[in-house]
Amino acid sequence: VDRYAVAGNPVTHSRSPAIHALFAKQTDQAVDYGRLHCELDAFKPTVQAFAAAGAKGCNVTVPFKFEAFELGARRTERAELAQAANTLRFDADGGWLADNTDGVGLVRDITVNAGVPLKGARVLLLGAGGASAGVLGPLLAEGPAEVVLANRTVEKAEAIVQRHAAWAARHGVQLRASGLAQPGTAFDVFINGTAASLAGSGVPVGPEVLRPGTLALDMMYGPAAQPFLDWATAHGATGRDGLGMLVEQAAEAFALWRGVRPQTAPVLQALRAQLA
Ligand code: ATR
Repeated sequence: VDRYAVAGNPVTHSRSPAIHALFAKQTDQAVDYGRLHCELDAFKPTVQAFAAAGAKGCNVTVPFKFEAFELGARRTERAELAQAANTLRFDADGGWLADNTDGVGLVRDITVNAGVPLKGARVLLLGAGGASAGVLGPLLAEGPAEVVLANRTVEKAEAIVQRHAAWAARHGVQLRASGLAQPGTAFDVFINGTAASLAGSGVPVGPEVLRPGTLALDMMYGPAAQPFLDWATAHGATGRDGLGMLVEQAAEAFALWRGVRPQTAPVLQALRAQLA
């Protein structure tokens, strides 16, 4: 049995062990996936001990995605763009591969699960923290017409836009940073990457960013996503939480480790049933 885990702090409520257990069963892979709690100042030694004990890799969650990226001897291009990693593979030569599967997970949830095309779309991405930076590269690679990265602190959005400028140009995307006052109107897709931080304060942009039928997706799920979803629905948009993205990023990590891609639809269904 090959061992994996999700490393984070906190990690108790992570759904990843349940998701990977379903993947392992479905694909008949001998995988044991657990939780790896890391003290805030001890991510590196904790993961190193896990690897030394024979584990094959781990997922990484808040607040260690930047540190995980730093630990990669090799890094995928999408991890380089994000400057953050959510997946480590402990390769036999001792070097670790750092990848970031959050962006492809989001893209697949939008285009396949929700059935909304990103090619040619106008996209508003809210927030300029790790969550937004983590998904922007794969989002641009889909070839939307325009992506606006809107953030309260516009300088943070500008820095991320600058890092992605060549990548956006290569994919023919108009990419720009914005404050919250006038990010634009009537987007096809609106993604909230501001994490749980908005729960108490409401959505910080006006409803004119929506049009009837806009896909409004919060990367959170559960109660943390509800205020955003309620706001979106109240203004005629189609709300979607981050559960699909969670399952899809996990499937991508599983495929990287095992060389087998699990089917995500039945797992997403089972997870929704568990959370209902
Ligand atoms: P993460 O790495 O999980 O994305 P983060 O780095 O703390 O989290 O970023 C949180 C994001 O939510 C930021 O974009 C933050 O805006 P600032 O960069 O201006 O701080 C945004 N955010 C948090 N609370 C907010 C609020 N009340 N209104 C608007 N934006 C908010």
